[in-house]
Amino acid sequence: MILKKTQIPKGPTVKQAQQLLSEKKEDTWVILTKQYGKNFLYQGTMVTCDPEIIEMLLMERSHTRKRSIVYRYLYKLIPLPHGLLFLDGNIWQQKLQTVMPVFTRPNISQYAGFMHQYLFQMISGWDQVNQFADLYNTVVKLNASLLMKVGFGLNPDTLLAKELSALLVDYKYDLMDNRTRLDEFGLSKKTIGKLPKFIRAEISRKKKIRLLHKQIQSILDSGVLEKNNGLNWISGLHKAGFSIASIANEVNHLYGAYNALDYTLTCAIYELGKNVSLQEKLRNELRITEQLPMGITHKEFEKIPDTIHFMQEVFRFYPVSMGISRRSGEEIIRGDIRIPAGQEILIALYALHHHPDYWEDPEDFNPERWVAHQPPAFTYIPFLKGPRHCIGRHLAEVNFINFIRVWLLEGIAQVADEPLHLAPFMIPRFEKSIHCTFKKSPKVK
Ligand code: HEM
Repeated sequence: MILKKTQIPKGPTVKQAQQLLSEKKEDTWVILTKQYGKNFLYQGTMVTCDPEIIEMLLMERSHTRKRSIVYRYLYKLIPLPHGLLFLDGNIWQQKLQTVMPVFTRPNISQYAGFMHQYLFQMISGWDQVNQFADLYNTVVKLNASLLMKVGFGLNPDTLLAKELSALLVDYKYDLMDNRTRLDEFGLSKKTIGKLPKFIRAEISRKKKIRLLHKQIQSILDSGVLEKNNGLNWISGLHKAGFSIASIANEVNHLYGAYNALDYTLTCAIYELGKNVSLQEKLRNELRITEQLPMGITHKEFEKIPDTIHFMQEVFRFYPVSMGISRRSGEEIIRGDIRIPAGQEILIALYALHHHPDYWEDPEDFNPERWVAHQPPAFTYIPFLKGPRHCIGRHLAEVNFINFIRVWLLEGIAQVADEPLHLAPFMIPRFEKSIHCTFKKSPKVK
């Protein structure tokens, strides 16, 4: 008997989805999947938070070989994201192999001590009481310095590093300006109306890109990277024969990826800042690591289970993208649904991480859920899985833990206990600034 396979069920109209997003913000993602099911069509794209389909999409080569059209479109539209995320085929392989050694656990572990010492040194220079108008800006600043060393092999205190980090940060803020961002959920009249502003912004970004080319050239000419034997992206790509423009693309792109860490760390400090007893609990646990001046590496993670559970919960609660685009390489049959080859698919990461079918009280930020909970397969994928997973995972985890450790051991932070709403874009950013007070802990003489 031949089973009749149905088409993918229809989802909301753009108007309905955007209305919901403006009213319900990020909750929209779960509301939509409750209303239309775990798989639905939206403007020709299939939206899914079905773990079995996600597993196939992430793990089977046929679906991972070719990038989604969304990446190809962005690749053409934005002048400088020609980095790994947007590539496929040989050029992706070649670039991946060149930068991959920088991201291995042993290489990242080498930098844990630096992360600890440098953060400690920066916070030591702060006043006893600090009022930060926007916590995110503070995190961006601290992390950008770390990246100069860990990623690019530069001493963050030198002029070359300061200029590079200032330019990359400036570019990123520019790209994330809500007035010109196009990464909304669906193409609407509003998106099209933004195009003139977007094009004007592109012209100014191109100038920044030319400046970035010059900076990369100056860094290579200065010879500072040769003196420093550590692995770094700039030397790696240069030695592999990539052009200055291509190295600049990758440096800027990797900084963009690093920004995921700025976002999750800001969310982490926000959660700690409104929950003093959670801060105290983690601080007590982290005190046992005070004997480790070389920083925490993956080897030490088992000694600090509460802090690790906290990190897992941050990555669940605040995924770095609302959805991830993929394209089916061949037909997929799942139950009654037939997904044709070449179908654009959005893996609704936020809905997956917040769906009540997979999580008990999903809207409670609760690190303790990780004590006994093993989420069902492919329901928790902050870094994805399979051949196109996040290559920065080890760096992100070590950076996250060392940042939280220094932050908690050096002081007490407080933020207002009010909900943190996200601007309704695919790559989430905060709708409002997060005010934060950081009081340094008195030093025991
Ligand atoms: C909390 C921190 C981070 C999270 C949760 C995260 C998550 C992700 C996710 C979900 C993707 C897949 C995106 C897609 O295919 O559309 C990705 C890709 C990627 N991430 Fe991360 N990321 C983080 C930090 C970093 C850092 C620190 C770096 C390195 C600087 C990095 C480098 C990359 C790169 C290069 C890719 C593209 C890989 C490829 O397509 O081959 N990420 N990340």
